[in-house]
Amino acid sequence: MMAAETKKIWMDGRLVDSANATVHVLNHTLHYGVGVFEGIRCYATTNGPAIFRLPEHVRRLVNSARLYRMPLPYSEGQIAQAIVETQAANNIVPSYIRPILYRGEPALGVKNSKGRVSLAIAAIPAKKYLGDSSESGVRAKISPYRKPHSDAIPSFAKADGNYLNSYLAGLDAADDGYEEAILLDQHGYVAEGTGENIFLVRNGTVYTPGLESDILLGITRESVIQIAKDLGYPVVEKLLSVNELLTADEAFFSGTYAEVAPIREISHFKLGDGRPGPVTREIMDVFYRVIRGEEPKYAAWLHPVLPTARPAAARSPRRAA
Ligand SMILES: Cc1ncc(COP(=O)(O)O)c(C=O)c1O
Repeated sequence: MMAAETKKIWMDGRLVDSANATVHVLNHTLHYGVGVFEGIRCYATTNGPAIFRLPEHVRRLVNSARLYRMPLPYSEGQIAQAIVETQAANNIVPSYIRPILYRGEPALGVKNSKGRVSLAIAAIPAKKYLGDSSESGVRAKISPYRKPHSDAIPSFAKADGNYLNSYLAGLDAADDGYEEAILLDQHGYVAEGTGENIFLVRNGTVYTPGLESDILLGITRESVIQIAKDLGYPVVEKLLSVNELLTADEAFFSGTYAEVAPIREISHFKLGDGRPGPVTREIMDVFYRVIRGEEPKYAAWLHPVLPTARPAAARSPRRAA
């Protein structure tokens, strides 16, 4: 993230200039990776700026913190209000919003359960994660790096340290000329992308790995499952082998950053005719209408942001005892 891309960053109840949004270099999160965060989008909709699935993102953030024994300094309502306040203060649309819970005080030593937990929230201009190819189809490589088992690193939590694995897989795929990596779980079943969930389509049924494949339970994934079911497609969550993936009729990624992005090639195997398939296009079409506010049925997924919104509660955090 470039500091210059945003004006104000919310730090523990204050909106500070981006250049002053700093922490001590000996903080616990920097050294041991114990932080939890979210990636959220705010879209320009027909009814003005709106944040996509805000309560679900806040709930996941809170659950991630719980799994990492980080006592929460704020209620879910306060976090949601602070996110809205940050979005309104920067007025960047469309934006990518990044709340992060971290231990910012100087403290070396891994077993830190007492360190103060802080919340920072930034909103930066949203970009297309996978570039122009995210609509025409991306090329992905099956990664030699596998997902860690949840017995070691819980995939349910969106934690800083998880992204060591995504980083290695992503750079390896890029070095080989691919746009994205597909990681397998410890048993060799398909898990997910570096920052996306994965779906495949066979004979009109939509498949996606379940939690047993050590995936993050994506909020876009859940939205896509709902859209696919509403369109009348059977959706099956199950262990998926590489063979099932390589011979799928269609495949696509889902994620806050990637949105819904068709996959046209996997490790030199062309999927279908190498273009986004009909089921993928139908789901994408509904998804992109939803985020523009054009699908009244899913209006509850969009949380409107008024430019004047300045909720007072967010500036008086409830500190954990
Ligand atoms: C590893 C991983 N899987 C899946 C996802 C997709 O989750 P969501 O749709 O909630 O953004 C993300 C992004 O947050 C991710 O980092």
